[in-house]
Amino acid sequence: MRQTFIVMSNLKLIAPSILSADFNHLGRDIEMINQSEADYIHFDVMDGVFVPNISFGIPVIEHVSKIAKKPLDVHLMIINPDLFIDPFADAGASIITVHYEVCKHLHRTIQTIKNRDIKASVCLNPHTPVDLLNDIIEELDMVLLMSVNPGFGGQKFIENTYRKVAQLRSLIEDKNPECLIEVDGGVNFTTGKKLFDCGANVLVAGSFVFGSENPEKIIGDLKKL
Ligand code: DX5
Ligand code: ZN
Repeated sequence: MRQTFIVMSNLKLIAPSILSADFNHLGRDIEMINQSEADYIHFDVMDGVFVPNISFGIPVIEHVSKIAKKPLDVHLMIINPDLFIDPFADAGASIITVHYEVCKHLHRTIQTIKNRDIKASVCLNPHTPVDLLNDIIEELDMVLLMSVNPGFGGQKFIENTYRKVAQLRSLIEDKNPECLIEVDGGVNFTTGKKLFDCGANVLVAGSFVFGSENPEKIIGDLKKL
């Protein structure tokens, strides 16, 4: 079931990444997210080519979509996202993020996502400069900044991300104030607070949430940063 949600760029949102969930009890972990103060459910889809890891794909999202009570935020770390916009849209995605680094015709890819009435988002790897978005930013509902090198949960936060968030915030204020900034990787109470202070809107957290004694409380405490 696709959720509808109102986007306002001054929101502070939490998107738990199920990459670190217990896949032996995925339904339980999704119900926890449903009960929590989380705003999205983040899915890290990896193809083993764009990133050196393979995670999960459409069947997982189809099944989760049947019980999810939050929008499905699908992060495609794959080399050919154009082939998979429709299947992920059909599976129930509410947001689809593609990587700048793999899109030869990014404007067309974004239009394809938006034609499915889905929020369109572009992801930048740690080495990819924010100003490459200058001529596409007005088309975007969200920008995802990687604060680790994509492929694995539990990595160390890359400090340069704070500067990129501030730079992106200024570009968005200038050209598309409704666009959200999402940050993914190494989010905890320390990095999360500084990210919100720099102008981020959505924090993706995997290991910090699911590695804790009380994931629901961690989500609520991240929301209050
Ligand atoms: C990297 C993944 C991770 C994941 C969050 O490809 O995208 O960043 O979402 O991982 P943690 O929160 O465990 O750093
Ligand atoms: Zn992600």
